[in-house]
Amino acid sequence: MPTTAILGLQWGDEGKGKLVDSVSARQDFCVRFQGGGNAGHTVYPEGKKIVLHHLPTGVLHKDCVNVMAQGMVMDPFKLLEEIAEVEARGLKLDGRLFISDRIAITTPLHLTLDVSREAGDVANQIGTTKRGIGPTYADRYDRVGLRMADLLDEVSLREALQRTQNVRACQTTDDAPNVESMLKPLLEVGEKLRKYVADTSLMLAEAMAENKNILFEGAQGAMLDVVQGTYPYVTSSYTTAAGIPAGVGLALSVEKVIGVTKAYCTRVGEGPFPTELTDETGNKLREAGGEFGATTGRPRRCGWIDLFALRYVCRISGVTHIAITKLDVLSGFNELKVGVGYEGHDAPGLPADIRKFIALKPKYETLPGWKDDISKATNAADLPDNARAYLRYVEDFVGVPIGIISVGPEREASFETDGAPKG
Ligand code: GDP
Ligand code: IMO
Ligand code: MG
Repeated sequence: MPTTAILGLQWGDEGKGKLVDSVSARQDFCVRFQGGGNAGHTVYPEGKKIVLHHLPTGVLHKDCVNVMAQGMVMDPFKLLEEIAEVEARGLKLDGRLFISDRIAITTPLHLTLDVSREAGDVANQIGTTKRGIGPTYADRYDRVGLRMADLLDEVSLREALQRTQNVRACQTTDDAPNVESMLKPLLEVGEKLRKYVADTSLMLAEAMAENKNILFEGAQGAMLDVVQGTYPYVTSSYTTAAGIPAGVGLALSVEKVIGVTKAYCTRVGEGPFPTELTDETGNKLREAGGEFGATTGRPRRCGWIDLFALRYVCRISGVTHIAITKLDVLSGFNELKVGVGYEGHDAPGLPADIRKFIALKPKYETLPGWKDDISKATNAADLPDNARAYLRYVEDFVGVPIGIISVGPEREASFETDGAPKG
């Protein structure tokens, strides 16, 4: 069963979309299994930028079948806009986009709840993307949410909307979206999406039985996982490899798990980030790396790579290969630091108590930098010695081979190394 996953290892925006785009040309299926419109995956097919939020990045390859599986949440209005944007490029999605009938639906009420919750408790803001992600997942687990199947039947939809409203009414004001204001638009959007709806768990089970190549595209990153990450400063889904079986509805075990990390580290939104740089070096990384959110445009917080955290999440996700992106951004630094642990922290894992996490003070190793522009490199031998030494340090510390190196945003600007996943 040739199954591969591409997952973020940090706090998102590691360059997952770019890597999925480079490998999905060779895949029969590309599957999103968690998250929703909070994702922003930037790709440059034929040099022209596109940012995908809900759609699997495989939509950019016309022979790839794309699945939005049941673990996702989906804003149907935003999804239609995305479909139109992709189809305007001549990439038709009929017959190669499938949406789970069990996917959780984000309604206008969820968007309102996300915004009002952040505004109402300023001291505990998460800094969400305001895409309604938390309230949609909360309604799923509170058993009052809507699913794709509900959008296809007026009676079911009315019942589901009423269910949500009954439990959410105490948190909303009178002018919040209600059953009557949402019913018709949701029915209309459901009708437009009807042709894509399928039992995607069954579909993937059949694809696996036929030995198809299946790629699972992660959104966010392991440090944003709802349980393993820096809770409560996380997203609301399982972003690690453990999220794949439940997210697609199949008890599968993925063969190749490619974990993506930047050569440094970024975070957008609130929450601890031990190796963050709030000085000139941090600004330099932001400028050189163009670190502004693909979904919200917010400046990303920047810092050195945290190898201790990386080793922790590689273990959790059973990462078989690392893909390191944005190595080109480190050109021109005299020296580079890498986080190798925290003062006085002897445990092999990361603290579950957020107050202890916030208190972590990083310990660094300093490595020599390089000046050369490496954005045209096509194999490891093209890299300066110090860049190769940097990669070797990462590999040795984390204990997982680096299989892919990325040196630019374009489709072509990455190459496999000796440690590349075989097959
Ligand atoms: P994702 O959410 O993980 O798909 O990542 P984003 O698209 O949010 O952010 C990654 C950003 O880095 C995008 O603007 C990409 O075009 C860009 N990018 C990806 N890989 C590289 C790389 O190797 N070098 C440079 N300079 N930019 C990259
Ligand atoms: P991709 O797939 C970076 C962050 C938000 C916030 C927290 C919770 O592009 O890597 P949410 O809206 O999910 O309730 O916000 O998670 N966040 C991301 N950060 N990249 C993402 O996705 C993110 N999706 C959510 O900034 O801190
Ligand atoms: Mg992103």
